[in-house]
Amino acid sequence: MAELFPAFHKLRGARIVIIGGGDLAARKARLVHGEGADLRIIWPCFAPDLWAEWSERAALIDRPPEAGDFVGAALVFVAIEDEAEARRIGAMARAAGVPTNVVDVPDASDFYTPSIIDRGEVVVAVSTAGAAPVLGRRLRAKVEALLPARVGDLAAFAKSFRASVAAKIAPDGRRAFWERVFDGDIAAAFLSGDEAGAREKMLAAVNAPSKDDARRGVVHIVGAGPGDPELLTLRALRLIQNADVILYDRLVGEEVLALARRDADRVFVGKAKADHAVPQEDIEEMMISLAREGKMVVRLKGGDPFVFGRGGEELETLRAAGVDAHVTPGVTAATGCAASAGLPLTHRNHAQAVTFVTGHAKGDADPDLDWASLAALDQTLVVYMGVGKARAISERLNSSGLDPATPAAVIENGTLPDEKILVGTAASLPDLVCAGGVKGPALLVIGETAAFAAPRAVGFVAEERMTA
Ligand SMILES: C[S@@+](CC[C@H](N)C(=O)[O-])C[C@H]1O[C@@H](n2cnc3c(N)ncnc32)[C@H](O)[C@@H]1O
Repeated sequence: MAELFPAFHKLRGARIVIIGGGDLAARKARLVHGEGADLRIIWPCFAPDLWAEWSERAALIDRPPEAGDFVGAALVFVAIEDEAEARRIGAMARAAGVPTNVVDVPDASDFYTPSIIDRGEVVVAVSTAGAAPVLGRRLRAKVEALLPARVGDLAAFAKSFRASVAAKIAPDGRRAFWERVFDGDIAAAFLSGDEAGAREKMLAAVNAPSKDDARRGVVHIVGAGPGDPELLTLRALRLIQNADVILYDRLVGEEVLALARRDADRVFVGKAKADHAVPQEDIEEMMISLAREGKMVVRLKGGDPFVFGRGGEELETLRAAGVDAHVTPGVTAATGCAASAGLPLTHRNHAQAVTFVTGHAKGDADPDLDWASLAALDQTLVVYMGVGKARAISERLNSSGLDPATPAAVIENGTLPDEKILVGTAASLPDLVCAGGVKGPALLVIGETAAFAAPRAVGFVAEERMTA
């Protein structure tokens, strides 16, 4: 969880006190000077440049700061080089109960100054909590490059229609209305410079609202990939960021969930073997009732929702209930883990096919699979949920004709920082699992291509790595 909460201060009428008379103080003044701010700069003597720049736009008070200077201030910046003196003055300001920033002294500050993108109505602030200001500035530059030049004017344009939208469109349709404005031809016309055209279209839209603006619930079944948040699709990212409610599985990590809106509801509905947090029917009912309340629901599943993920059943149920439902694919564990391990699932010289199977079986039974065809040469076999059945899988393949010396790999927590990759043979598969202490989600990969996997073991002593 973040240690900071960003908030935007109103500058109009706010008294901002800057302590300092040199370049540091001038820089802070440039940062906080805004429409209607009551800016006061206090210090016994001012550098000529500061005087020239600020004497007409701020109150310059040439004496040492006093406790009374801070009473009633909205924000204080102590911008002087002498750290001990800065701390002393900072303590005086904080004693007056005013949020204070002592420049370059994080432990004496209540808040940090972010890197800012200022486009009028649109202000973007980036902070690294004082940990890496240069990184903050680089991120700011990247975000800036993504923002259309006229985005601030677009916000002002939207603001000029707020009252008429509120008068004409029912509250439950407003969000959809604005989404249509910003995603559609109105914003496109405005941003391309055709303000008159945009205004005309906007008036037409406000005066004849579309039936689509009535808030309709929707469920998006979304693949979250194998763990690394960088492997999310752009669409998955957008949907996660827009969701009102996220129903997520055990395999979806904190880093992915952290991308959601802070006010979105997150509901854990995950399942572990023999430990069903929420029964499948209840998950489906929950999705249906949330959508009927008009919510934008994201059903977030590890990997791809249509690969051993029950996404198909959920889609069927939602459609049968008349709920608007869509599917967004994700990187499935097999492709994610293979890429991470450097293991090509197909290879011109070693594997002409790839087969995904589940090792899951009811109770203690062995998986019910066509072992003879799985034992065939020239393919890569990937077993999901097979760790608990590694011995049975190894034995059944070997007794069905697979050469026991065929390379095999176990990939646990693939794509994540604690990823473990163990490489051995089809015969040694159960020992790999056992000696490797494999407990997290893992795949078994069997076939010539498994030999390409680069062994990697977190907390596993190198000499103990299993090899053929
Ligand atoms: C219920 S299945 C879900 C598969 C998911 N829908 C997909 O496309 O990857 C869960 C199994 O996927 C595999 N799995 C998921 N994420 C994994 C990861 N990061 N590393 C290794 N295996 C993973 C494991 O075999 C785990 O038991």
